[in-house]
This record gives sequence, structure tokens and C-alpha cells, in this order.
Amino acid sequence: MREVAIVAAGMTPFGELWDMSLRRLFAEAALEVVKKAGVDHLDSIYVGNMSGGCFVGQEHLGPLMADQIGMAGVPSTRVESACASGGIALRTAFFEVASGASDLVLASGVEKMNDGADATNVLATAADQELEVYHGITFPGLYAMIARAHMAAHGTTEEDMSWVSVKNHRHGALNPKAQFPLEFTLEQVMNSTPVAEPLRLLHCSPVSDGAAAVLLCPLDQAKKYTDQPIKILGTGQATSAMALADRKDPTFLDSVQLSAERAYTMAGVRPGDIDVAEVHDCFAIAEICCIEALGLIEKGQAAGAAAAGLTALGGRIPVNTSGGLKSKGHPVGATGIAQAIEIFEQLRGEAGKRQVQGARLGLAQNMGGSGASSVVHILERT
Ligand code: COA
Repeated sequence: MREVAIVAAGMTPFGELWDMSLRRLFAEAALEVVKKAGVDHLDSIYVGNMSGGCFVGQEHLGPLMADQIGMAGVPSTRVESACASGGIALRTAFFEVASGASDLVLASGVEKMNDGADATNVLATAADQELEVYHGITFPGLYAMIARAHMAAHGTTEEDMSWVSVKNHRHGALNPKAQFPLEFTLEQVMNSTPVAEPLRLLHCSPVSDGAAAVLLCPLDQAKKYTDQPIKILGTGQATSAMALADRKDPTFLDSVQLSAERAYTMAGVRPGDIDVAEVHDCFAIAEICCIEALGLIEKGQAAGAAAAGLTALGGRIPVNTSGGLKSKGHPVGATGIAQAIEIFEQLRGEAGKRQVQGARLGLAQNMGGSGASSVVHILERT
């Protein structure tokens, strides 16, 4: 396999973007990448998207998006794995370059969630229809059950979860592209409106519009496009039972652990080597489960990690310096690419006030649904 680098990144702000359509969101992020890299062609395009059909009635995104950026004719493919669609688009693009099949591949993600569709019901299509959704469950409900089980099994508290939100909003307040770049106190989080007990409004990622894109090429060609290529050192993907009730332990995200093990093995690194991580905090409890399954925090310490400052900027392993899904926003198909962009910028020293000094190795973890799919990338400064 050839070594692969990310050479350019582009991203819209995330938020309720009423004047931006699905195609315009994609075009803005993709054209930013094309312009930054100074390329006049692409060999291939991948578009991560969870549900263009349900959200805005638009499927068949591959050709539509290629045409939007003046690249009709280029092979262009939509990739879907619920909220992990972006991360898996990146992985697919990685293999196309690594295999030698293509040199210049755009990996992107886009979602338009605020356009009238009932986002809660559309998102629920990523849960098990027969075993879960039929009985009335939604994603806030599923993660509330994970939270309750975590509290019962590990003594996790509402305060532990709330510190995750406080931390991620502190980080997000430093991110000009974040949907909610605001700080909240612990008290504000703990008194916010109940959504699905024990989860409250400020434990939940929002409903968002947005797009993100990165350009991949072989590492030995990367200097044509940038002075600072970032190498993709490892990638890992895994699945788990779709329904929570079918898992051995609903508090443990086994797909996250498996995808991470595969990425660490490919990269030849250990969790302790990682300097900065973006993890899938669609709900505050998810960040606690993810940092434990990724091995970033010792077993038993994950719940208290945010309160102890371990995962904050300046802490032992800064997690979600972008603000995470909680503060930056979660346009589901775009999220995995946006996570990779935060790590790309951190490793290039371009993260401004969010910069983790001296970061050399970064990890991005993106998952679908309640953890039925997960994908991990490990990036390295060259
Ligand atoms: N964080 C911070 N503030 C938020 C927010 C969030 N996640 N979501 C909404 N707000 C703010 C809004 O700006 C609004 O503020 P305002 O009154 O000052 O204008 C207020 O809270 C109410 O917003 P509204 O859009 O009416 O909220 P809602 O009740 O329709 O939706 C949630 C709130 C939490 C239910 C919704 O964001 C949600 O479903 N999130 C989860 C999404 C999800 O499941 N993603 C997939 C994960 S697997």
C-alpha cells in the first residue's frame, strides 16, 4: 500500500443555515479544498451523507455533488453509515489512494437537517426499526438508557456527564465555526431542560446543517499541494449489534474498541502516544464511553475525566478541542470529516486558541447510531 496524506481541508460553519441548500453546503466546503490545493481535477469523490432522502428528498448525491463543483464525469460515490458516514467516506478515500487506483481523492461529508423534516424521526432510522424504533425509542432515549446503565454499573453521575458539556462548550467557544460557541456553567447544564432523563438539553448535540471536505493524495506527491501534509497513519472500522438489548454490555461500546485496536495496530502506536483526540460525543455519556473504549483514559476513570481536567485543553489528553459534536454541531454526514479537519489543523499548528502545543499524533473517532458502527483514524505530523 502507498502512504497517504491529507493536503487540504475546507468546511462551512455548522449551524441552522437557512440560506444554504444541501448542494450549496457541499460546494462551499469542496471548492475551498480545491482552491487551497490549487488542483484543476480530481480522480474521485466520496460524499458521506446519512439521509439526504429523508431530510430534503435528495438521493443520488454522488453525481449531483460532482456536477455542483464543475467535475461531472469524475467517479463520485455517496457513502452511508448513519452518523459515521463522513468517517467511512474518509476511510474509503484512503484505500483508493493507498491502493494506487487514484492520486487525488476528495473525501467529504454533508447534511442538511434543518429544512422542515422531523429530525428526530429521520435520525431514528439509524436504530433497529423492529427491535427499538417500533416501540417508540429515539436517539436521546437510547443514549439515556446507556447513561442509566452506566450510572448503575459504574456509579457515573449527572454531574460527571455535565462536566463533559461544560468542557466541550469551553473548547467550542474558541471555534469560530461552532454552532453554539458559548460557555455554560455546571449549574446551567444541570438545570437545562430534561430531554430523556437523565439527559438534558445541554447534554445533547444539536440538529445542524454543514459540510466538510479534505483532499487525499499519495504522501510522496503531497508537497505539490502543501508545505505541511498530514499522514494518515492508521484506519480501523468495526460494527456491533444494532439493538442495545443485543449487546453483552450496553455501557461498553465494543465497536469503538475494535475499530481503535485495528487503527492502533495499523499505525503501530498505543493509546498513550496520542496527543489530541476528537471523539463522537453525540450525547455527553457517549464521550465517557468512547474515551474508555479508545483506551485514552484508564478503565474506571472515564466518567470523572472531564471534571478532573484530564480531557480539557491543557490536560493530559485533550478531547474534542473543536467543541465536539456538542458545541461545534453535528450535521451527521459531515461530522467524521470535520473531526479529521480538527486533528489536521492541530497537527499543522493551525488551531489558534485551541492549539495543543507540540501535537504530533492525533485520533478521530466517528460512530453511527448507538455505536453499531465505528471508524477511527490516526493522523501524524510529517
Ligand atoms: N445545545 C445547546 N443549545 C441548544 C441545543 C443544544 N444541543 N439544541 C437547541 N438549543 C437551543 C436553541 O438554540 C434554542 O435556544 P433559544 O430558545 O435561545 O432560541 C433552545 O435551545 C431550544 O431549541 P429547539 O431547537 O427548540 O430545541 P429542541 O427541543 O427542538 O431540540 C434536542 C433539542 C436536544 C431535542 C435536539 O437538539 C436533539 O434532538 N438533539 C439530538 C440530535 C441527535 O440525536 N443526533 C444524532 C445523535 S446519534
